Amino acid sequence: MSDLQAIDRYLQETQAQSLETLKSLLRIPSVSADPAYAGDMTRAADSVASALKAAGLEVEMIETDGPPLVYAQSAPVPGKPVALVYGHYDVQPPDPLELWETPPFEPTERNGNLYARGATDDKGQMLTHVESVSAWAKQIGELPLQVKFMIEGEEEMGSEQLDAYLKKPEAKEKLACDVIVISDSGQYSKGQPAITYGLRGIAYFEIHFHGPKQDLHSGSFGGAVNNPANALSKFLASIIDDDGIIQIPGFYDSVKPLEQVERDAWAKLDFNEQQFMDGLGVEGLTGESGYSTLERRWARPTYDVHGLWSGYQGEGSKTIVPAHAAAKFSFRLVPNQTPAEIKVLVEKFVANNTPTGIRSELVDLHGGPGVVVDPNSPFVSAASKAVETAFGNPPVLIREGGSIPIVADMVDLLGADCLLLGWGLEDDGMHSPNEKFNIADFYRGIRASAHLWQHLAS
Ligand code: BES
Ligand code: ZN
Repeated sequence: MSDLQAIDRYLQETQAQSLETLKSLLRIPSVSADPAYAGDMTRAADSVASALKAAGLEVEMIETDGPPLVYAQSAPVPGKPVALVYGHYDVQPPDPLELWETPPFEPTERNGNLYARGATDDKGQMLTHVESVSAWAKQIGELPLQVKFMIEGEEEMGSEQLDAYLKKPEAKEKLACDVIVISDSGQYSKGQPAITYGLRGIAYFEIHFHGPKQDLHSGSFGGAVNNPANALSKFLASIIDDDGIIQIPGFYDSVKPLEQVERDAWAKLDFNEQQFMDGLGVEGLTGESGYSTLERRWARPTYDVHGLWSGYQGEGSKTIVPAHAAAKFSFRLVPNQTPAEIKVLVEKFVANNTPTGIRSELVDLHGGPGVVVDPNSPFVSAASKAVETAFGNPPVLIREGGSIPIVADMVDLLGADCLLLGWGLEDDGMHSPNEKFNIADFYRGIRASAHLWQHLAS
C-alpha cells in the first residue's frame, strides 16, 4: 500500500475525531474585535497549540501586544520544499444573535453541515491542514516535506500584531518557506473546487461628524443648524456615483486594469446571475458600469458602508437635531493600490468635503493590499492534483473579492509563492448569522491537504 493509500484509509477511520477537534475549537468565542473576549483569544490559541502538538509538531506560542501567534513546525526534510500554513483562530462578532437558529458557539450538525461562528472562516478550513499533518505523523511517522504553521488571532481586524512580528529580524528565518498555503476562501461553487490566485485588499475607516454641543429641538433649531446625520448621509453618498464610480480624486490612479485573458477566462465560468440573486434574496444587481458581476466582485475596487449611527433609535419618534453622527466604511482595493495611498486620498477628501457647522474626525482602522500570484506555478499544478483527488473534479482558477490583509506582506518578506485553497461555499455565511461548514468538505479538505504534501514533495 502506498503512503497516500494508507493515509486515505487512516483519514476515513478518524473522521469523527477530526470533527470533535473542530467542535471543541468552535466552542471558544474568540471574537478579536471585542476586548471582552480577550481571555477566549488565549484559550483559542491554546486549543490550536494542543491540536498542533497532537499532530506531532514542535509548537511555540509567540506573545504579542494582542492575541498570541501560534507557530509550529515539523522536522526539516532536506532537498524538499518547505510549506508554511497560514490561518486564523479569531472570528467575526456573532451578532445579530437573534437570527441564529442554534447558538453561534454551540457547534451543531444539521443537514450535513456544522453550524457555528468560525466554522468555515477560518477554524474549520485551517484545521484541515492540522489534521492532514497529524495523519502523516501518525500513519507514516514523518512528513514528505517540512510544514510550518503560523496561526494568528487578529486576521479579522487587520493583522496588526502579525504585521509587527514580520518586521522583527527573526521572523524571516523562522517563517522561511517556498510556498504559503492558506485555506480561508471558497470553492467556486458546490461540486466545483477552485484555486484562488488573487484577493482584494482593503482600507477601513471610521468617521465622526460633530455638530452642536448637544442634541437640539429640531423645531426650534432645524433648518438653521447643520444636522450631522443629514450631513454624514450626504457625505457618504457622495463617495460613489450612480455608475458605481468612486468619486475620490486620484482613487483609480494606480489600479492595475484587468487583463483580457482573465476577462475571457472568467466569462467562460458557469455563472447564473438569476441563481446568484435568488441565493442572496435580492431582485437586482448594481455595480461599476462596464464590468461583469464576477469582475466587480473579484477585481474592481469597491466602497461599502458597514455601519452608521446617529440620533434616536428607540421606539416611537423623537424630534431632534442629533449632536453627532458616525459611520464605518471601507474600500476593497485591487493590485497595485495601497492602503497608505488611499488613506491620504480619503483624508484629503474628508477635509475638502466637511460642510459648514460640522467638525469631522477620520479614524484609520486597518488596511492591507491585494495580492495576485502566478496561476501557472508548479505549486498550483501540485495543488490541482490533490484537490481533484479529494473533490472529484479538477479545480478552476479564480480570483476572490475578500481580503487576507497579511498575505501580500508575507509573500514579499519570504519571497515565497502562495496557494489559496478554499474549501468553503458561497452560502456558508462567512460573517453572517448561521455560518456553517459542509462536513464532507471538511473531510475533503483534510484529504486534499494530505495529498498536497506528497505532491509538493515530488
Ligand atoms: N476568509 C476571509 C477572506 C475571504 C473572504 C477570502 C471571502 C475569500 C473570499 C477573511 O477571514 C476575512 O474575512 N477577511 C476580512 C479582512 C478584513 C477584516 C481586514 C475581510 O475580507 O473582510
Ligand atoms: Zn473573515
